[in-house]
Amino acid sequence: MKDQIEAIQAEALARIEAATDTRSLEDARVAVLGKKGTLTEVSAGMRDVPKEEKAAVGALLNTARNAITAALEGKQQGLQDAADKKSLEGIDVTLPSRALHHGSLHPLTILRHQAISILRRMGFALAEGPEIEDEFHCFDALNTPADHPARNEKDTFYFDSGKLLRTHTSSVQVRTMESQVPPVRIIAPGSAYRRDEIDATHLSVFNQLEGLYVDKDVSLGDLKGTLEYFFQEMFGSETEVRFRPHFFPFTEPSFEIDVKLHVKGQDPRWIEVAGCGMVDPAVFEAINASRKNDGAYDPAKVTGFAFGMGLDRLAMIRWGIKDIRLLIENDARFLKQFA
Ligand code: DAH
Repeated sequence: MKDQIEAIQAEALARIEAATDTRSLEDARVAVLGKKGTLTEVSAGMRDVPKEEKAAVGALLNTARNAITAALEGKQQGLQDAADKKSLEGIDVTLPSRALHHGSLHPLTILRHQAISILRRMGFALAEGPEIEDEFHCFDALNTPADHPARNEKDTFYFDSGKLLRTHTSSVQVRTMESQVPPVRIIAPGSAYRRDEIDATHLSVFNQLEGLYVDKDVSLGDLKGTLEYFFQEMFGSETEVRFRPHFFPFTEPSFEIDVKLHVKGQDPRWIEVAGCGMVDPAVFEAINASRKNDGAYDPAKVTGFAFGMGLDRLAMIRWGIKDIRLLIENDARFLKQFA
């Protein structure tokens, strides 16, 4: 039996040495150490070895198994090293790597994130509403009568069903008040649509950010403080903000907000950036009716302010973008500048 073990060991070591890939190495392992392998089978013969020889034969078996296992591991490592070396052939690892091309956020996205983050710090929560609206939410509930120019077919995209692409995000004010009781403090960024002639400052789709705050005793002072703070956070603490009386059907009093724009080499000038005002009691009445007169928005008990700003306009001011069309053309040369 001793001779047999030695022969098996010698044969196994030779076969392992001759293996050229992991497959033939595995075959060699199975042939000697597998369930029916030669060494496994000869080990079964231990039973018949006379007592006084058992120790010596056992030791020999162990030596053989250890030698074979070590040879298998050594060969496996050798094959792996050779494979690694081969896969690196022809590759110069000392060459500098290729530049990574990072994408970047669209300027409108950057601006929207910033606007949201400023307003969230002041306690405004995000709200949303559909872009395909009905006339009630877009106009009627906002005290905008049927003969108001904004409702004109020439200015608004209507569907045959009578629905329309919302002309402003103010519709989200209505939807929010229908579904939540005061106090509400929400902002709603989103797209709005108008049949505008497209030029350097007009698109038929643009981006607004609506805000609404309704509670007991909300005052014009709250409105001014909130928006002044907002624009100073947005454009710098030195920014001058002006409230100019205006008219919107859904607020009374109403204002347009201008920000003083300073461009190098140009005289400073006021630029209109938003509309705002105190929520018109007629809007609360409409909400009240829509809420089956539950009184949650009783104009004798609550007041509120609202505002709507054009995000495209803010982006143009912020980065001195001269043509609004750049914001939708996806020209990488333009977009890369915001990386
Ligand atoms: N919806 C107005 C527009 O698109 C902007 C606006 C003005 C929104 C006054 C308001 C507001 O919430 O109070 O021109």
